[in-house]
Amino acid sequence: MKAVFIERFGGPDVLQYGDFPDPVAGRGEVVVDVVAASVNAADWKVRAGHYEQSTFPFVLGRDFSGVVDALGEGVTEFKPGDPVFGVCDRGQEGAYAEKVAINAGIVARKPDGLSHVNAAAMALTGLTALNAIEDTLKLQPGETILIHGGAGGVASFAIQLAKHIGAHVITTASARNHDYVQSLGADEIIDYNAEDFAKVVSNCDAVFDTVGGDVAQRSFAVLKPGGRAAFIGSGAQAPKPNRADVTSLRPVVGRTRRHLDRIAQLYLQGAVRAPEIKLLRLSDAVKAHQLSESRHVRGKLVFQVR
Ligand SMILES: NC(=O)c1ccc[n+]([C@@H]2O[C@H](COP(=O)([O-])OP(=O)(O)OC[C@H]3O[C@@H](n4cnc5c(N)ncnc54)[C@H](OP(=O)(O)O)[C@@H]3O)[C@@H](O)[C@H]2O)c1
Repeated sequence: MKAVFIERFGGPDVLQYGDFPDPVAGRGEVVVDVVAASVNAADWKVRAGHYEQSTFPFVLGRDFSGVVDALGEGVTEFKPGDPVFGVCDRGQEGAYAEKVAINAGIVARKPDGLSHVNAAAMALTGLTALNAIEDTLKLQPGETILIHGGAGGVASFAIQLAKHIGAHVITTASARNHDYVQSLGADEIIDYNAEDFAKVVSNCDAVFDTVGGDVAQRSFAVLKPGGRAAFIGSGAQAPKPNRADVTSLRPVVGRTRRHLDRIAQLYLQGAVRAPEIKLLRLSDAVKAHQLSESRHVRGKLVFQVR
């Protein structure tokens, strides 16, 4: 099969597109013919060595949509030809390829009304947004939430989910993305290049930060007493708050079929739409990583694999 892999850590130039051995379905696994796979910010961090993954050669890529090709021993719930989508288990990536092997228990059926490209675009981002907004922040109707990095892949889903729950959504984005985040449902938009969000936002029930760095630490200031903040751009630990009356949380983004089914259900009922998508080929992986690493992609980059 064709795949994008690395044999050492480094810049985008270490990405190689070429032939790679087909994966084999182990016990409890399915092999999926990948139709679309998405680019996540984690991918360039893995490529650069931030996660200390050390088995080479290593095929990158965390989420995909495709068609079941082969079943491992013990798999009875799928048959070859079933359309599925999913997010690879932690440490077991491999979606930047024509085929991927994955634990069948964390794969979901892709409904006909959801395209492979849209399913791949929303798999890890949707999973992350659901974990953050519903499971971790437990956002309630009528609450106010500040979502940082509104134009990114995770936030594109999170803004719509928060609106669906019935929250008031404030988001940060550069001016060129204001129409986009407004179309997702944002009630208030802050141009973070022109205004300091910490000075113009206050009294929030919740913050969801997808940006990290200094933005994370300064976010505690906008919370009301008892408020809570969730962080996915600040590494494995939530930042320590500089006040005692708020809660700082790091969502645990597990891989579950239940969450993938919920993504599909929210999409089919019209509660969320897919993010803006730029389609690329696997052979464009270097360009994809250059774009992703710039941290100004609007929506998602998706590889049309077949
Ligand atoms: N399991 C997990 O924990 C998990 C899962 C998925 C993602 N993540 C992490 O979550 C983060 C977000 O990922 P992503 O794929 O959604 O997006 P991303 O590609 O990291 O970010 C893209 C967006 O960030 C915006 N942005 C950049 N700097 C900003 C700032 N200072 N303030 C506001 N917006 C800013 C950009 O919009 P503008 O052009 O408008 O600036 C752009 O649309 C990444 O760090 C990723 O590694 C974690």
